[in-house]
Amino acid sequence: MGGIQARMEAVLARLLPAATLAPEQLHAAMRYATLEGGKRVRPLLAFASGELTGADPARVEIAAAAVEMIHAYSLVHDDMPCMDDDVLRRGKPTVHVEYDEATALLVGDALQALAFELLAAHRLADDPAAQLEMLQLLARACGSRGMAGGQAIDLDSTGKTLGAAELEFMHIHKTGALIRAAVRIGAACGAPLGAGAREALDHYAKCIGLAFQVVDDVLDADASTATLGKTAGKDAEQGKATYVSVLGAARAREFAEELRVEAHKALGALSTASSVGAQTRRLAELADFIVLRKF
Ligand code: IPE
Ligand code: IPE
Ligand code: MG
Ligand code: MG
Ligand code: MG
Repeated sequence: MGGIQARMEAVLARLLPAATLAPEQLHAAMRYATLEGGKRVRPLLAFASGELTGADPARVEIAAAAVEMIHAYSLVHDDMPCMDDDVLRRGKPTVHVEYDEATALLVGDALQALAFELLAAHRLADDPAAQLEMLQLLARACGSRGMAGGQAIDLDSTGKTLGAAELEFMHIHKTGALIRAAVRIGAACGAPLGAGAREALDHYAKCIGLAFQVVDDVLDADASTATLGKTAGKDAEQGKATYVSVLGAARAREFAEELRVEAHKALGALSTASSVGAQTRRLAELADFIVLRKF
């Protein structure tokens, strides 16, 4: 894990425009938002699924960087006063606090554009059609039928009680979609999988994507600001609809555990559907990390 995280730090540092390049403040803020922080879960997943399909890590690192830039942009906007109004992220002041709101807005815009530029500018799959599919996958995952849509539902649900199905829909979109895309895009850098294996991998990705946000909800209620590097207890304070507010912390933890078991089952099906066998180990470890993490 540490090796890939260090590699991603270097890759992102190389791919982001230098802070000495005009407009300097925007570039400095893009680097501030993206570098030195974060668990890099989405890149880790892209590498793990890329390993499964024998993808060249030099390709995977670009795809992973694109996904991480979208994620970093989503955090910058999520923290803005018009959304969750947070002052702390990854142990540092949020971008709109360190810089200003207009810069935070533009950092998000620019990171999103850079992510797509990277996917278009580098050769990431042997088949150009597969590469176009990656672009489409990422676009769908971060648009109104993915992350941005989920965020809209999140804002609209604040102060309301959601049913289980509505809550799952929101979480699958605001957080699950990009995680699912990370898994699929990483795999797409390598040899194509058969339909059965692809379906099993996607089911794994769906389970851990949802589990990720369930655990995020639990940690917001359970963990400290110091451990999280972001303000704890904000969801309850702001009246957010979360797995903790709807199911209670104990049941939310159980649900995450059920999703972890289902993700492992999907990897079992994946091994049966293809000859990849042992290469699912990293994906299994990441499912465990996502559910059992303390930060
Ligand atoms: C936080 O994501 C926002 C959610 C989607 C729940 P992460 O927990 O992956 O944040 P970093 O990248 O590690 O800071
Ligand atoms: C954010 O969910 C999901 C995103 C798309 C950024 P949260 O609002 O719960 O994320 P945190 O807790 O601020 O990291
Ligand atoms: Mg939010
Ligand atoms: Mg938030
Ligand atoms: Mg949260």
